[in-house]
Amino acid sequence: MSQEPTTYSLFLFLFLSHGVSSYTVPNSRQDLHPLLQNMAEEIIDGSYLNALLDLIQFQSSHVWTDDLSHRVLAYLNSRNVAFTIPSLQAAVENHLEQRLHQPQKLLEDLRKTDAQQFRTAMKCLLEDKKDGLDLKDIIIDLGEIRERALQSPGVNRSLFLITLERCFQMLNSLECVEILGKVLRGSSGSFLQPDITERLPRDLREDAFKNLSAVFKDLYDKTSAHSQRALYSWMTGILQTSSNATDDSASWVSAEHLWVLGRYMVHLSFEEITKISPIEIGLFISYDNATKQLDMVYDITPELAQAFLERISSSNFNMRNTSTIHSSKQNSWTLPWRTRPSMRPWVLCRMQL
Ligand SMILES: *[C@@H]1O[C@H](CO)[C@@H](O)[C@H](O)[C@H]1NC(C)=O
Ligand SMILES: *[C@@H]1O[C@H](CO)[C@@H](O)[C@H](O)[C@H]1NC(C)=O
Ligand SMILES: *[C@@H]1O[C@H](CO)[C@@H](O)[C@H](O)[C@H]1NC(C)=O
Ligand SMILES: *[C@@H]1O[C@H](CO)[C@@H](O)[C@H](O)[C@H]1NC(C)=O
Ligand SMILES: *[C@@H]1O[C@H](CO)[C@@H](O)[C@H](O)[C@H]1NC(C)=O
Repeated sequence: MSQEPTTYSLFLFLFLSHGVSSYTVPNSRQDLHPLLQNMAEEIIDGSYLNALLDLIQFQSSHVWTDDLSHRVLAYLNSRNVAFTIPSLQAAVENHLEQRLHQPQKLLEDLRKTDAQQFRTAMKCLLEDKKDGLDLKDIIIDLGEIRERALQSPGVNRSLFLITLERCFQMLNSLECVEILGKVLRGSSGSFLQPDITERLPRDLREDAFKNLSAVFKDLYDKTSAHSQRALYSWMTGILQTSSNATDDSASWVSAEHLWVLGRYMVHLSFEEITKISPIEIGLFISYDNATKQLDMVYDITPELAQAFLERISSSNFNMRNTSTIHSSKQNSWTLPWRTRPSMRPWVLCRMQL
């Protein structure tokens, strides 16, 4: 046993806690649960991460009994795999340690996981609590493993990529969005490069789409102009498909769409804005939370702000309560649309004088 116990060595207590030599079963395959057989095969292949995922999965649905570690060892013996306990320990530790420093290989490992292992890996990522695998006298500190892994930007990037590649086919899309949101927020949006939108799913359920859009909205300021444009295209691609507009003269932009787009609405074209129906724009500005949203749209061009204002004027929204005041900023106008004191004035308009 290593003098310096690492988290990973705990995995090996499984094998260490019972003597091998004193316990041999000639034909142990029938004895071993398929999941543990699979785990043993992964060990034989040197896929130790996958083996750990099998173990986690097994433990989540079965009671761990003392004889199980004997059986795993017997299985390995029956396959004539020349592991000594210390060499197996070293192999596992090295493997997991290397993956921390070579995230590309971690990505390859995760690509090779089967559906169940992949789900287990993703669920482990989602967990926030400090949890451990408690196999009687064996404790595996998954929280610690996760914490160490997430300290590496490279590991995070691999997790981000594998989530995009495989998650939406295997897990509930809301869960995948939650994982993406976690990794994206944790890395301050640095993975949101323009080409990433080609990998984003196009057939998301509505609630998952809204949640992912909310993540992008939160990261708006941390995203480059190129990436903002790309994310806008991805969002509008989906919004347009879900829209009922049948001919070109009708706008696909509804009040709800404006809300979903949030600050990305500044990428709408002039023509698109002028086509928004008065009813939808009126509905939009009557949302309580639209006030807050519009307060944030500081990067809109004067032309587009003007176009929005014109649409708003054409709506049936009660304009009597509107006053125009010159804001402290030079050459810009602030329009408080409502007189309710709780309302912050919103700055849709930054019209040049
Ligand atoms: C989706 O977003 C809603 C509203 O923000 C939130 O309540 C819900 O928990 C989110 N769902 C998931 C799975 O993240
Ligand atoms: C990795 O992502 C997690 C969230 O999943 C975050 O807490 C952590 O800060 C990120 N690490 C780095 C180095 O960016
Ligand atoms: C689209 O049409 C359906 C069926 O007519 C309706 O239920 C739905 O509310 C419409 N959606 C929008 C965004 O107008
Ligand atoms: C903002 O208002 C829209 C329309 O009522 C709603 O769909 C959305 O969930 C609201 N968002 C928040 C954060 O309240
Ligand atoms: C506009 O102001 C009038 C009188 O001050 C008030 O009764 C009305 O509710 C206001 N309308 C809106 C939409 O705030």
